[in-house]
Amino acid sequence: MKIVVLTGSPHKNGTSNTLVDEFIRGAKEAGHNVTRFDTAFLNIHPCIGCDHCGMNGPCVFKDDMPEILDAILSSDMIVFATPIYYFGFSAQIKSAIDRFYSRNGEIQRRNLKSAFITTAWNSDNTVMSGIEKHINILIDYLNLDNVGMILAKGYGYPGASTEKGYMEEAYRLGKSL
Ligand SMILES: Cc1cc2nc3c(=O)[nH]c(=O)nc-3n(C[C@H](O)[C@H](O)[C@H](O)COP(=O)(O)O)c2cc1C
Repeated sequence: MKIVVLTGSPHKNGTSNTLVDEFIRGAKEAGHNVTRFDTAFLNIHPCIGCDHCGMNGPCVFKDDMPEILDAILSSDMIVFATPIYYFGFSAQIKSAIDRFYSRNGEIQRRNLKSAFITTAWNSDNTVMSGIEKHINILIDYLNLDNVGMILAKGYGYPGASTEKGYMEEAYRLGKSL
């Protein structure tokens, strides 16, 4: 498969990117082709809702997003990875997701496989409840086929006690594809 990974953390070696590294290692070992876009380090203007695209056409912003969208639309699978920021996606990856708007129908028609990786400091039962609902609605809306989710709570910094277990989970998810 061609897999596109979108990450959302500004910490290059932080928790979510560490899990992404492990996921990619597993996926590559299983023979897949992975393209990664680290949204925190790219030029992605937030959608301004001008509707110039009419949900189906070129966006007014000529930044890094058209390349990402082209990659998604020629892939078989999309992976979203984000740290939990205020119980949701980081603004960096959310800006990229909002820009799906210009090619929404095309994404829906591709019926891509998807996976989701997220990390949070807290370890209580509510910390993932908002984002879990959000990602599930997104999966339904974009007509994605979820193949796995890693909701890594209690993983607030690299080297946290939970790290090893989540890294294994991420590697196994990639390898299982
Ligand atoms: C702006 C901001 C908001 C955050 N909000 C939450 C939160 O709502 N719940 C939580 O458990 N952790 C929260 N955290 C902690 C991060 O989710 C956690 O440290 C995570 O491991 C960071 O991932 P990263 O290293 O991939 O950037 C927040 C951190 C920041 C910087």
